[in-house]
Amino acid sequence: MVGNLKMRWKSPEEAQLYAEGLRSVWRESGRDELRRLVICPPGVFLERIGGFLPSGIALGAQDVFWEDEGSYTGETSPLMLRSVGVSYAIIGHSERRTWLGETDSMINRKVRSAIRNGIRPILCVGETREEHLAQETIIRVSEQIEEGLQGMDPVSATQIIVAYEPRWAIGSDETPMPDEIRSVSQSIRTLLERKFGPASEDVSVLYGGSVNTDNFRSLCIDTGMDGALVGRESLDPEDMFTMYEQLA
Ligand code: PGA
Repeated sequence: MVGNLKMRWKSPEEAQLYAEGLRSVWRESGRDELRRLVICPPGVFLERIGGFLPSGIALGAQDVFWEDEGSYTGETSPLMLRSVGVSYAIIGHSERRTWLGETDSMINRKVRSAIRNGIRPILCVGETREEHLAQETIIRVSEQIEEGLQGMDPVSATQIIVAYEPRWAIGSDETPMPDEIRSVSQSIRTLLERKFGPASEDVSVLYGGSVNTDNFRSLCIDTGMDGALVGRESLDPEDMFTMYEQLA
């Protein structure tokens, strides 16, 4: 279960309030191990939020660069992320593909760099509305996975998380039908099996795009997915937990 906080919050105080909220919901839940819950705040707040998260909730970045250091203005290296406690990174989110022109080959370099540095990549794939209408979803998603995971061996594969996020469903309140998600989930798993053999069983496959507490079960569990990548609905710690509790 991954919460993508995107470019929310205007001050460290707001970010901290959120982290404190998560911490108190976690305490009330009585759980002491929530390794499978990952929070991805804006980069500038990573360290601050990390300091407030209960130890069972993992810290994730919303992106990572492919080089460890050097003259790369504006970028953040995996080493820097590791130094503030990051253990996961969203890579290839559709908003970065759209607004920043990220290509599958750039995304592949980022995935490799994350793995090399002990950060688990959450590789985002998904079709546009036009591709969806033209029934090209599976072709497009397969291409993105093939290219994004090029050069990965089965050992590294066990670190990977794949998030299927139809671009048209993100931020829109529209979602595919559960049957469509189920069929994409099966195709992704078949592809991963062909690529990585038995190691593919360790790859989590998530659904993302307008997930909320009402549709979480039908879109993210009943479809054979392992969980969700959640945007807007992750802004409320209680909602995150309501969904998370259905998973565990
Ligand atoms: P949303 O975003 O849940 O607000 O649609 C999902 C995402 O961008 O990962």
